[in-house]
Amino acid sequence: MRHQHEIEVAVQRVVRSGHYILGDEVGAFEAEFADYLGVRHVIALASGTDAIEVMLRAHDIGPGDKVVVPCFAPSAVAAGIHRSGAALLLADVEADMFTICPEALESVLSTSEGHGVKAVLAVHLYGQPVAWERLQKIAADHGVLLLEDCAQSHGALWRDRPTGTLGRAAAFSFYPTKNLAALGDAGAVATNDDELAGRLRLIRQYGWRERYLSDQEGVNSRMDEMQAAVLRVKLPALDENVSHRRQIATHYVVRLGSCHALRMPVTRMHCEHAFHQFVVRSSRREALLQHLHSRKIPAAVHYPAALHQQAAFRCDHAFPVSEKLAAEVLSLPLHPWLKAEAISTVCEALEEFDHG
Ligand SMILES: Cc1ncc(COP(=O)(O)O)c(C=O)c1O
Repeated sequence: MRHQHEIEVAVQRVVRSGHYILGDEVGAFEAEFADYLGVRHVIALASGTDAIEVMLRAHDIGPGDKVVVPCFAPSAVAAGIHRSGAALLLADVEADMFTICPEALESVLSTSEGHGVKAVLAVHLYGQPVAWERLQKIAADHGVLLLEDCAQSHGALWRDRPTGTLGRAAAFSFYPTKNLAALGDAGAVATNDDELAGRLRLIRQYGWRERYLSDQEGVNSRMDEMQAAVLRVKLPALDENVSHRRQIATHYVVRLGSCHALRMPVTRMHCEHAFHQFVVRSSRREALLQHLHSRKIPAAVHYPAALHQQAAFRCDHAFPVSEKLAAEVLSLPLHPWLKAEAISTVCEALEEFDHG
């Protein structure tokens, strides 16, 4: 494990402190992550799903309200919204960018179905920043809130601004596979709004203004001290790690750009991708996946079904781009410590498939 010694020291510090929930480590992580992002407040929570729920609750979004999300997204996004009590409304995504499509959002908000929409949750999927400016204009025109889901975009920039700082509030996950990863479940909401921050802090702990006295309804979503201590060890390396991710992504794009069987990912103009995943597209995805697995290359599919194609979120509409992506996407191995040799092995296997 990277930083193993420092992590063990940090965990031991927590064990010896006798304080395990919402203590000094959490406070320090909140301050350090806020400083990294350049926001006034980070509120540490128990998971990214909780971050979505608590962020919506803090805006008084709940039963009777609707939230628009991209149809091509992990179901965790939908779970967070369901837990707030709000209903889900889906919008198709941009094929090359994988993120919510501004035109699709505009048409969702312009139909009668769009009545009751309180917010749009823009997911920076795979680390690709959304089309923020256009989405912001559409959201403002329709009087709805635009919120960020940064569970996959730690380290990504939209016009030099870190994702997580673009709107009123942003949800983060620090699940162990994320670009900034705890050793268990953890999440956070970032915001510049003092009043909202106060509400988020209340909601994460039973609505307590002070111990045992609840000012409002709340939940239990507290980050624990161990996770905060681990995240504090890893945060200083985040930018360097994301930079390695970008280098590996560039290597893949340059080397595999001429493979006919593959469509390479692109980065939105004026943005820095965080490459949480490096996702190619292929109309022969299943054969390609088998080919890579037969060579012990751990390629994966994120995600095999769009939200409306899953039993839990079924709806009558067609979302052609999301459906196509669900049938074609394939994530190649990518993490900051991937060796040149392993990258070559992946490339050779893909070239072999392309020639075969
Ligand atoms: C885009 C996105 N949003 C939200 C979540 C939920 O985060 P968590 O797993 O920490 O609850 C995830 C994690 O899988 C995610 O990828």
